[in-house]
Amino acid sequence: MLTPVLPMAALVEGDKTLIRVNTNAGVLEILVGMIEGRYFAVQARCSHAGQSLANGRIVGDEITCPRHGARFCVFSGACTGAPATQPIASFPVLLEAGKVCLNIEH
Ligand code: FES
Repeated sequence: MLTPVLPMAALVEGDKTLIRVNTNAGVLEILVGMIEGRYFAVQARCSHAGQSLANGRIVGDEITCPRHGARFCVFSGACTGAPATQPIASFPVLLEAGKVCLNIEH
């Protein structure tokens, strides 16, 4: 289901923000941002031990978990650095009527 989450103007290059979306499975915490002119949306919890990635540092297209240093691609959610071994969820982003919209199963 396409869910509008932010006005496009709310994010500029290098920004990221934490949003919460209610789903049938509970509240999803998602990190939405823009890097290299592209929007991204990924699960806001590290797959290693559940640390919030809200304060993770982004370099290039990778976010680093502030707890033990695992790295993830912000576009695909792929794990790119230990100690995590599993990816984080990523969500397709569409821009519609000036809004950043995510394709999320509700
Ligand atoms: S909780 Fe993220 S690397 Fe351990």
